[in-house]
Amino acid sequence: MVSRRVFLQLITTSIMATLVTPLALILHAKRTYKRGPEVRVGEDCIDLPPPRLDGDVSLERSLANRRSIRDYLDEPLSIEEVSQLLWAAYGITETIHGFKTSPSAGATYPAEIYIVVGEKGVTIGDEGYLEPGSYHYNPHAHRICVVKKGELRHELYKAALEQEWVLKAPVSIVVTVVFERTTRRYGERGIRYVWIEVGHIGQNIYLQATALGLGTVAVGAFLDEQVKKIIGAPESHNPAYIMPVGRPVTPYTLDERELHAYIMAHREKST
Ligand SMILES: Cc1cc2nc3c(=O)[nH]c(=O)nc-3n(C[C@H](O)[C@H](O)[C@H](O)COP(=O)(O)O)c2cc1C
Repeated sequence: MVSRRVFLQLITTSIMATLVTPLALILHAKRTYKRGPEVRVGEDCIDLPPPRLDGDVSLERSLANRRSIRDYLDEPLSIEEVSQLLWAAYGITETIHGFKTSPSAGATYPAEIYIVVGEKGVTIGDEGYLEPGSYHYNPHAHRICVVKKGELRHELYKAALEQEWVLKAPVSIVVTVVFERTTRRYGERGIRYVWIEVGHIGQNIYLQATALGLGTVAVGAFLDEQVKKIIGAPESHNPAYIMPVGRPVTPYTLDERELHAYIMAHREKST
């Protein structure tokens, strides 16, 4: 015979299981998968919206209007803009070998890209903001995964020798490099190749930012080991560039007539 106490315990447990299990599952699902139209937010990873392969601004106009921009409005970027910037930096453009937007010596791809997101730095649909912290970009899955949580901009600004634009930008892209991937194949010369590749990546970010009406600046002056620690990168990921990105206070536009006048004046001056 089951005692009255055990019977009551069994009833209570089964009622709890019936109610709590689905509730826990719903809560877990809400916590792990907030579904937007194209953005899937996981516990620690965000599947980025697919990059657009066409835009409204020509390559020529992006080249003409590219400028190092250091003053940003106090406004967030959207997750779509972050997606586009990361794809432009190092996204996939060929699906057999996984080749990328930036060329790479022997396709050794030494770079690993991180972003530092400030508090309310990136909007996700109407649902809110990306959690502040550092994220690592996976170009193949076009996904970012949390490395460190928290507002890291002040530390990054300190490590970047107190350059204000690093503190103010809603997002900073940090380009890091793993020398070994390229030197394994090319020896000492691989070092040169890696730095050249950082330049390609940086220019891609500049041009994409310009085409999106955003502003950025390539920051090379910072304390390497501190930046590495702040973003939570492993020892082999060496920071090469910090590129803060924001909405420009004063967008730059090259005037075509001004350019022609400049060229004409220089033709007259030179032999
Ligand atoms: C390798 C490299 C390092 C740079 N480092 C910094 C930096 O630490 N801080 C900064 O404000 N700008 C930095 N810049 C941006 C230059 O100051 C800028 O490109 C230059 O003034 C020309 O202006 P423009 O980019 O608008 O054409 C760097 C640029 C390069 C290419």
